[in-house]
Amino acid sequence: MKVLVVGSGGREHAICQSFRRSGKVTQVLCANGNAGIAEIAECVPIKPTDIAGLVEFASRNAIDMTFVGGETSLALGIVDEFEARGLKIIGPSKHASQMESSKSFAKDFMARHNVPTAKYVTAHSPSSAVRSLESGDFGDENSPVVVKADGLAAGKGVVVATNRAEAVAAINEMADLVGADAAEKIVLEECLFGKEVSLLMFANGEDFALMPPTRDHKRIGEGDTGPNTGGMGTITDSSLLTSQELENIVETIVRPTLRGCVAEGFPFRGILFLGIMMTAAGPKLLEYNVRFGDPETQAILVRLETDLVDICEAMVGGTSQEFPEIKWRPGSSACVVLASQGYPSAPKTGDMISGLDSTSHVPNVSVFHAGTSMLVPGEYYTAGGRVLGVTATGENLDEALSVAYEAAGKISFDGMQFRRDIGK
Ligand SMILES: Nc1ncnc2c1ncn2[C@@H]1O[C@H](COP(=O)(O)OP(=O)(O)OP(=O)(O)O)[C@@H](O)[C@H]1O
Ligand SMILES: [Mg+2]
Repeated sequence: MKVLVVGSGGREHAICQSFRRSGKVTQVLCANGNAGIAEIAECVPIKPTDIAGLVEFASRNAIDMTFVGGETSLALGIVDEFEARGLKIIGPSKHASQMESSKSFAKDFMARHNVPTAKYVTAHSPSSAVRSLESGDFGDENSPVVVKADGLAAGKGVVVATNRAEAVAAINEMADLVGADAAEKIVLEECLFGKEVSLLMFANGEDFALMPPTRDHKRIGEGDTGPNTGGMGTITDSSLLTSQELENIVETIVRPTLRGCVAEGFPFRGILFLGIMMTAAGPKLLEYNVRFGDPETQAILVRLETDLVDICEAMVGGTSQEFPEIKWRPGSSACVVLASQGYPSAPKTGDMISGLDSTSHVPNVSVFHAGTSMLVPGEYYTAGGRVLGVTATGENLDEALSVAYEAAGKISFDGMQFRRDIGK
């Protein structure tokens, strides 16, 4: 079969690799891909936002299945458009994608279905958000509060303010930061404390299959310092959640969510990503994402032993096929992101990357490309903020981390930044 993957980052590189490993796939195509993806898939120059172009391409080229990497295409309704043309596609509908594309939609949904989450208020203007704070909805002027833009903001729309003055500043700057559309509504949230964990699942209606729990590192600097990034690294490890905690999350968050979607007429199909805070009062849901995370995907998929196509068949619209029993490689995994100089504020591009060859034969290592280009045949150059995701599996977390760092140590480019404390 011919599979089309939509997107161009490390996540999509990992998805393409999983499809390449499938015994059922004869050709992997990727729109629009990157230099690393081009090694294993045929890249086609159609942007993930060009929904009409993608539909046209998939039908003209007899694509058997399309897999959507990122939220932008989903929020634009790519799944509805493909299905209207009878094309098989993996991902939630435009309506279901609001679970991610609108924070207020998600919070109202959680409230309707008793999913444990932070107390919140949705404000329809910056001034009403400020009034809500001043009226003491989230404690006094010394209380922390979280300020979120309602719409998609590529990770830039959330400010965890340590006091009211910071929160007011964040409210007033939000439109400049993320654009007027994404900041049209502002969600204020009670600040929760605890350890964060991400739990992803394959889902179709009330059926689901969980992936190994993961934790990512969002800040650029070691010890979680400095500005937020798209993600500097991630691990999967069973110690992130005890079986008791996992069971609790399934009963209080996963099942009510999937049942709620069915009850409201939009059965969820595709990848559902839960961002969870393990608070003293139990697990609370921070957010839904409606797709794979980046770089969580890289660390998750290197452990997937079941054919991804078989899992996808169970997520297709209209199927009553159940999920196959999913086999994960035992142990742990780690992904260390190598970023360019100046990332995240002003990433420098165009630097030659050396050492990639020497990682290609290291056992249990996959180097996923995020922002690379091949300016000269055989030579890779940096082409974005996050450049590579060096990903390794191991019998335990220490082993996965040491293998990933060993491989990362073979790669270099001018100004390369990476965190040495991933998984710590
Ligand atoms: N209520 C809260 N209390 C404390 N911290 C929070 C709260 N909500 C969000 N955060 C912090 O802010 C981060 C980003 O929040 P959230 O996941 O809602 O935003 P996002 O921009 O959609 O993230 P992503 O890019 O991962 O999809 C969380 O990972 C968490 O660290
Ligand atoms: Mg999100």
